[in-house]
Amino acid sequence: MTLDELTSHVSAEFQRHYARPPRWIVAAPGRVNLIGEHTDYNDGFVLPMAIERYTVIAADRPDRETNQIRLYSTLGDKPANLDLTMPVKPFPKGAWANYPAGVIAGFLARGLNPGGFDAAIHSTVPLGGGLSSSAALEVSTATLLEVITGKKLDPVEKALLCQKAEHEYAGTPCGIMDQFISVLGRENHLLLLDCRSRRTELVPLDDPSVAVLIMNTNVKHELTGSEYPTRRKQCETAAKILGVPSLRDATADLLERAKNKMDEVVYRRARHVIGEIERTVHAAEGIRAGNWPTVGQLMYASHYSLRDDYEVSCNELDAVVEIAESIGIKGGVYGCRMTGGGFGGCTVALVKTDAVKAISKKIAADYKKKIGIETTIFVSRPAAGATVLKM
Ligand code: GLA
Repeated sequence: MTLDELTSHVSAEFQRHYARPPRWIVAAPGRVNLIGEHTDYNDGFVLPMAIERYTVIAADRPDRETNQIRLYSTLGDKPANLDLTMPVKPFPKGAWANYPAGVIAGFLARGLNPGGFDAAIHSTVPLGGGLSSSAALEVSTATLLEVITGKKLDPVEKALLCQKAEHEYAGTPCGIMDQFISVLGRENHLLLLDCRSRRTELVPLDDPSVAVLIMNTNVKHELTGSEYPTRRKQCETAAKILGVPSLRDATADLLERAKNKMDEVVYRRARHVIGEIERTVHAAEGIRAGNWPTVGQLMYASHYSLRDDYEVSCNELDAVVEIAESIGIKGGVYGCRMTGGGFGGCTVALVKTDAVKAISKKIAADYKKKIGIETTIFVSRPAAGATVLKM
């Protein structure tokens, strides 16, 4: 659905649920990360783009003046209510409304009280697909609250407020990539983000002969839930042993020299991060130069490192990457890798635009044969960050 179609859709949903038209409509995109995985919480670089998949929210003041916020999701989740006369506390773990609740709490903490409102929320970002559906929900909520309170936040502060909501209300100790790109995405550009200085640089990706192909494995492995925090800790352990503030300050040489001072798993985790930060900087140079084969090789190298050293891939992701690699540059694929946190979700490939159809067909067929389920494949141009569609 285009943003125009989404606007009509969410308006109709609001009307259906609350029996009047909405006053405000906002949207925030999901993202795909081209390269730079598990580097954000190590002060490294990431290179994501916003995608043409959005969370949209239609809202209005309630019929009568109240301090109640009513949140209705079209995705079948239970509606949630917040009472602003009381402190906003997290819902039970796993509740979808924790994302908006955390953002509302962040505004209140800044003295920005939106007052009561009714909202209908719809999303085309696949849930749990590694495309940052949660950041899209947080950032769209923050964008709505900016409109309602009339106070536009500085974009970096806005992203950090959303990240804090995820830490404190959803309980995920995520880095800063997802919220940054959902706020700061720019059409036809990737965002090279230095997660230490938070400086950003737009890298044009506007060559019509290359396309970004996103393939959803349609699996999400429910592991213990501690994989992400465990890896963060392993990175911190490695940095401590190396005597540096974060792995951003380490080099491959330094790591090799300290190899026997750390356990083998910690060593491999650090090797991934140090290599990935370097690959991300090179990939940005490759994109600026239009050197697609080099960028593609870096993407494959990133995948193998995530699979073997960081151990966040899975059979299904590996299968898509293998199929893409077997198609090769001759068949139009420059490179492919898993994207996002891992353990399922999506892969991202850089491909020749005129081969998109043939590649999609081959990947879909071979994936079905190998794994036994369907994959969902789509192309996205780099999209703009959060926007107000009606105010
Ligand atoms: C998740 C987190 C991000 C980042 C990625 C891995 O998407 O939310 O902050 O750490 O995993 O690169």
